[in-house]
Amino acid sequence: MRVRRATADDAEAVAGVIREVAEERRWIATEPPVDLAERAERIRAMLENDDALWALEDDGGAVVGNLALHQTPIRGVVSLGMCILAGARGRGGGRALMDAALLYLEAADLHKVELEVWPDNGPAISLYTRYGFEVEGLRRNHYRRKDGSLRSSLIMARLLAPSGDAQSRPGSGT
Ligand SMILES: CC(C)(COP(=O)(O)OP(=O)(O)OC[C@H]1O[C@@H](n2cnc3c(N)ncnc32)[C@H](O)[C@@H]1OP(=O)(O)O)[C@@H](O)C(=O)NCCC(=O)NCCS
Repeated sequence: MRVRRATADDAEAVAGVIREVAEERRWIATEPPVDLAERAERIRAMLENDDALWALEDDGGAVVGNLALHQTPIRGVVSLGMCILAGARGRGGGRALMDAALLYLEAADLHKVELEVWPDNGPAISLYTRYGFEVEGLRRNHYRRKDGSLRSSLIMARLLAPSGDAQSRPGSGT
């Protein structure tokens, strides 16, 4: 498996990954059905807006995962989202995506990366914790799902050292 920066040409493939993971109805906020064309268009718009995207490829070159860093309304803060197809998990792809994103973040003029995760998503929370993300809060019953149920989410974040100060950062994932 290998990680590379994704471009607009990857939009359909990345949308396909999101659609499959959404269909598991367990890990990510996006609920099925995912309209592939509409999602691919959103990904292209996101890239035009200077969001950053990485693709995880399997050994045959198929896109099996992605990590995105989105702009937020707060200057210097980006939000992270990632997912990998079920068949490709547990083989270091999550770490590879996170390593690539953190290299980028170390060189960027940003002070914080944040994310939200379902409180029962043990694998993701473990990955984020391993990379120095800390829980900042719980959004109680914040999200109304299509079936009417309400879901809470954990807010996790990692502070970024000023450029050139990466050594002093805790939990650098190594
Ligand atoms: C979370 C996710 C990206 C992790 O990717 P992955 O390729 O499975 O993870 P890796 O093999 O690189 O493992 C990295 C770390 O993740 C954690 N992890 C991965 N699978 C795990 C599992 N089944 N149980 C507990 N921790 C797990 C561990 O901390 C692991 O570190 P370790 O190998 O030192 O123990 C992946 O499981 C995924 O896409 N899940 C579904 C979508 C999702 O939950 N996205 C995040 C939404 S907030």
